[in-house]
Amino acid sequence: MKDADPMQMRLLAAEAVAREAGTLARRRFLDASFKVQFKGPQDYLTEVDGETEELISSRLNEAFPQDGFIGEETTGRPPGGGGATWVVDPIDGTSNFARGVSHFCVSIACVAGGKVEVGVIYDPMRDELFSARRGGGARLNGAAIKPSGATALANSTVEIGWNMRSGVERYLDLVRRIALWGAAPFRIGSGALGVAYVAAGRRDGYVEYHINAWDCLAAILLVHEAGGYVSDFLSGEGLTKGNPLIACAPGVKEALISAAAIEGITL
Ligand code: IPD
Repeated sequence: MKDADPMQMRLLAAEAVAREAGTLARRRFLDASFKVQFKGPQDYLTEVDGETEELISSRLNEAFPQDGFIGEETTGRPPGGGGATWVVDPIDGTSNFARGVSHFCVSIACVAGGKVEVGVIYDPMRDELFSARRGGGARLNGAAIKPSGATALANSTVEIGWNMRSGVERYLDLVRRIALWGAAPFRIGSGALGVAYVAAGRRDGYVEYHINAWDCLAAILLVHEAGGYVSDFLSGEGLTKGNPLIACAPGVKEALISAAAIEGITL
């Protein structure tokens, strides 16, 4: 019998674990019995983030004990000889989750050899599973997805990610520039879903001055595999320290890069 493809096994595992973790998050969201804290100003943390990450970490460690792990909430594990590392946000959109807004997801990516090999995002409130394997296309609940056919920002909607790391003035300038180019600016508070929606043609672009790897790596692979444009997020120390990000439909790549004018992201 032919040996199983190790990355295909990781894709299947990530899909199953994302569904299990999402089901836990959904149950806890609906019973609303969790405590809410702040890691810093405007930086929400609920006890469900930790519970969900523990579940994901232990399932992946059982199945692939040699793999590394980087999560938003827990201490990581370095990769062993195999060199693959899981990058996980147990609940992306924590501010929504904490306030009873049903727009959040589980995000699981697997990186090896400096490339994102597997990306899975599960939205448990809509039962939507986005998944991609490098070289294998991008899917939503099993059906192929692609970015929008937008060719001008004047008819585009762009999510502009916001966080306390990037500075208020810079954020307002970014919104201003993108709006002046004619795009409709949005922010719904989940970077992972915002970028995945670009892959699925529900938004035309996503821009953020600084985003962490656990928030966006799975979605980056989705956009790439769906045929969209994504800036080189893993350059420099992107995996461990984050980077700026632009993701968009191919027809608005030049306009959005020009409008955003983010240092280091050029045509
Ligand atoms: C945040 C969200 C937000 C993005 C921030 C992230 P969290 O992650 O994805 O949309 O703009 O950069 O930190 O706190 O919900 O996991």
